[in-house]
Amino acid sequence: MKKEHTQYLACPSCDSDLAVTRIDSFKEGSIETGILQCLNCKVNFDIIRYIPRFVPMENYASGFGLQWNKHARTQYDSYNGTNISETRFFEETHWPRELHGSAVLEIGSGSGRFTEQAASTRAMVVSLDYSYAVDANYASNGHKDNVLIVQGDIYSMPFKANFFDRIFCIGVLQHTPDVERAFFSLPKYLKPGGNLVIDIYRRNWMYLLTTHYWLRPITKRLPAETLYKLVEKYINLMWPVARLINRLPKGNLINWALSVTDYRGQYPLSEEMLRDWAILDTFDDLAAFYRNPQTLETVKKWFTDARLESIEVHYGYNGIEGRATKPS
Ligand SMILES: C[S@@+](CC[C@H](N)C(=O)[O-])C[C@H]1O[C@@H](n2cnc3c(N)ncnc32)[C@H](O)[C@@H]1O
Repeated sequence: MKKEHTQYLACPSCDSDLAVTRIDSFKEGSIETGILQCLNCKVNFDIIRYIPRFVPMENYASGFGLQWNKHARTQYDSYNGTNISETRFFEETHWPRELHGSAVLEIGSGSGRFTEQAASTRAMVVSLDYSYAVDANYASNGHKDNVLIVQGDIYSMPFKANFFDRIFCIGVLQHTPDVERAFFSLPKYLKPGGNLVIDIYRRNWMYLLTTHYWLRPITKRLPAETLYKLVEKYINLMWPVARLINRLPKGNLINWALSVTDYRGQYPLSEEMLRDWAILDTFDDLAAFYRNPQTLETVKKWFTDARLESIEVHYGYNGIEGRATKPS
């Protein structure tokens, strides 16, 4: 992080300002290793590998840390030559392509494919994730002057209240232990008049028909590295079979039910990249410790109960999308 980035941070316990009190290593204008301290309660937070860390490096989301470091670039448009992430980001947020001068908060960034999109608007993008996926994001986006990457927890974020013009939280809420509380933690950080965008898995009985559903109670408890190797072997073994199944009517649904996340016919990716996405998303589904999909009615109620305005909640990307504005 850069020293001036403290302006975007606050103590997660008492909301007071933080200051850099020690720098052990400084390279090319950024603090590689050092200490941040709360000016009020004097708690210290480490800066490690250029990233301020407000939570233990290892936690329930470490499976995500592993998957996003192994697949650090897989879903980046700038790597795979598509516009899959760009289209999803702008279609979901409805935000303009130019946001210079505004502050955007991303929660649950994973490897940072949407950080890349948000940063392309020239907004200042502050990007938080609970897992060590932040290291993968830093490798791709950390060098940008308008990006700050932070390891922290949605339930106790190290930011100032009423600060950000826009917040987005894509692909994350269903993976938290208390989804409702995670949702209600977001509006606090928005400026009055600021815009919130979320998405979340839709509760769907069809999931009961998949092998993921029945395997997850076991797989989510396996060491992430062991599970990753098993998934890699399984997808490599199944891949030629999945190609044949895909030719059947509803073939990709059959593959999905067999825990082969098959994007053939959906995304314009090469055969090698499709296999890579299958390994990534199959692991994601089997490893995530929490998977709490919601109904449309529940998500609508949350937006209303949070007293947000201009609410739009509907089925869409990832199941359910929601957008709203904090009252001015
Ligand atoms: C499925 S990934 C989505 C990543 C990215 N948004 C994307 O769509 O490519 C979910 C992310 O949520 C993060 N996450 C889970 N619990 C969290 C929490 N309590 N606070 C912040 N992030 C969390 C995980 O570490 C993981 O990187």
